[in-house]
Parts: sequence; structure tokens; C-alpha cells
Amino acid sequence: MYSRITGTGSYLPEKILTNHDLEKMVETSDEWIRTRTGITQRHIAEKSQKASDLALYASQEAMKAANIASSDIDLIIVATTTPDMVFPSTACILQHKLGADNCPAFDVQAVCSGFVYALATADQFIRSGKCRNALVVGTEIYSKILDWNDRSTCVLFGDGAGAVVLSQSEQPGILSSHLHASGSYKDVLSVPGSIESGAVQGNPYINMEGGTVFKFAVKVLEDVVREAVEENKLKPSDIDWLIPHQANIRIIRSTAQKLGIPLDKVVVTVDKHGNTSAASIPLALDIAVKDGRIRQDQLVLLEGVGGGFTWGAVLLRW
Ligand code: ACO
Repeated sequence: MYSRITGTGSYLPEKILTNHDLEKMVETSDEWIRTRTGITQRHIAEKSQKASDLALYASQEAMKAANIASSDIDLIIVATTTPDMVFPSTACILQHKLGADNCPAFDVQAVCSGFVYALATADQFIRSGKCRNALVVGTEIYSKILDWNDRSTCVLFGDGAGAVVLSQSEQPGILSSHLHASGSYKDVLSVPGSIESGAVQGNPYINMEGGTVFKFAVKVLEDVVREAVEENKLKPSDIDWLIPHQANIRIIRSTAQKLGIPLDKVVVTVDKHGNTSAASIPLALDIAVKDGRIRQDQLVLLEGVGGGFTWGAVLLRW
């Protein structure tokens, strides 16, 4: 028994914030942001929108593409760092909005690796025969956890959601998944604040040592891609499409270069979306599926790294 992606969907909020808009908010420039990160614009959710609202649109698209109804879903996993509330989980809120009551629903918190963690988890449920159709979503509203006076972080992120339906299949599908974490890096990238006694204690915004994140990301992404291809007796050059977490074009280029994968086999959306954390991989996947780049039988490798640190990859045949 295998699992296979049978539908993809995504959602980006209407409002676009360009680098030129940011020039009016903090001391920065379009040139600095573009050359350091590759980002030119990002989407920003309305104040009234929650992560589950973005997730709902993306999920409805994915379910339509997979040609399934809410009643066919028997597992919901939502990857998010920006949940609607402390609890219940965004997955439970999404389940209610979809009218898919009764199936198991839970959130995964692995920051920018969240979607890879969620997909790997859903794959295990399907392989073990516990479910037939899983809805796996990455949804984020990072604009709510950014300090808009801190130019070193506020220029990097954006809001959005991506979703897939993962279904039982006789043919693979997902070939293998590879997850890692190292909590010893917990202070390098974090939102350290917590809610205690009715108020936020500590810093409620993103705190990041950018240079350390950069070096760590390039190293572990190369390692985890090699781990995935070697386990399947393949070479990096066999991959048809690399879909990396979209943090920074320089991280994406360095990883691809170290692996000998040409950039025209890499799906890049960071220029238009910024870093949407757990949403970035399913958003990029949906775009490449819809524009026809990803075709049947191709080898697709999803890889991500994020706070924790966490990192991982999923290798699949489309
Ligand atoms: N505009 C203008 N200047 C800026 C800005 C800005 N938005 N932000 C920082 N600077 C300044 C700094 O203050 C510094 O000034 P100084 O030399 O006077 O002190 C100067 O630019 C250079 O700063 P560096 O940090 O050395 O710039 P660097 O070339 O390393 O780029 C960046 C910074 C883009 C954050 C880079 O380190 C990076 O991409 N790191 C990875 C971080 C990342 O991707 N995080 C996302 C979350 S984690 C994930 O998704 C994997």
C-alpha cells in the first residue's frame, strides 16, 4: 500500500506588499532585499483573516482537483506556526469549516519544515491502512508575528496556504520521507514569547541569527536530499523537480549548485511570495502542477528547513 498526491490547491491573500512599499516603512531598499533574498513582493492577509481561512480556500481547491468530498476525508493534518488560537488546533477549526467532522485532525508544529513533517506523517497513516484520503495543509500568517520595525526580519516573510490530498494507491506515490531535528539550535530562530497569566511574556516577534540560519540551511538541505536519493538508489541528477522551502534565493541556489541540479529543474516562488514558512512548499508545488511543469511519472523532491532546527525531505513519483 502506498500514498499518492491526487490533488493540490493554494491560496494567497489579495493584498500585495512590494519592496518599494517596505521602503516607506523601514530603512531598507528594493535593491538590498532583492540581492540578499531574491524577494520582490509578498502577500499579506487581512486583519480579520486567520490561518484556517487561508487553509480553507487551499483545501477546497485541492479537494476539487482530487475530485473528493469532505465526507471522503479521513485525516486532516495542518502544518502551521501561526495557528488561529492556542487551542483548539487549526486542523479542528478547518475540519469544522469543511464539514468533515469525525475524522482525526491535528496540527504539526515544525515551522518551515512543517509541511514535509505533515506529509510524512500522513504517508505513514495511509501506508498502515489507517486512512484512505488525508488532507495535508500548510498555512501561515507570518505578518502577525513580525516586528514591522525590524528590517532584518520583516522583509523576509509573507502569508499564504497550500494543500494536498494524499490518497491510497497501489503504485507509489511517496517513495520515502526523511525527517530530522536538532533542538540545540532552538535560540537561533524563534518567537520566544509565551502566554502566561493572561499576557504575552517575552518577545512575541521573530528573533533570528540570519547568518547562522543561512549556513545551517545550505548544509542540512544538501545532506537530506542526498539521504533521500541514496536510499532510493538514485542520484540528485535523476530528480526532475526540486521543490525547496522558499526562504531565500541564495539558499535555494547554493543547495542546487552543491547537488549539481540545474536551476531550471528547481521550482522558485520566493520572488513573488517571500518566505511563507510551512505554506511555501505546497504553494510552489501547486503552481508547478497547475502550469504543467510537473507531469506524470516525474521524480519530485520536496525539502525544507526551519526553526527548531527541523529539516526534512519527501521523495515522490508524480
Ligand atoms: N535592509 C537594509 N539593510 C539591512 C536589512 C534590510 N532589510 N536587514 C539588515 N540590514 C543590514 C544589517 O543591519 C547589516 O548592516 P551593518 O553591516 O551595518 O551591521 C547589513 O545589512 C548586512 O547584514 P547581514 O546580516 O550581514 O546580511 P546578509 O548578507 O547575511 O543577509 C539575510 C541577511 C538575508 C537575513 C541572510 O543572512 C539570510 O538570508 N539568512 C537566512 C535567513 C532566513 O532565510 N530566514 C528565514 C527563516 S528560516 C527558514 O525559513 C529556513
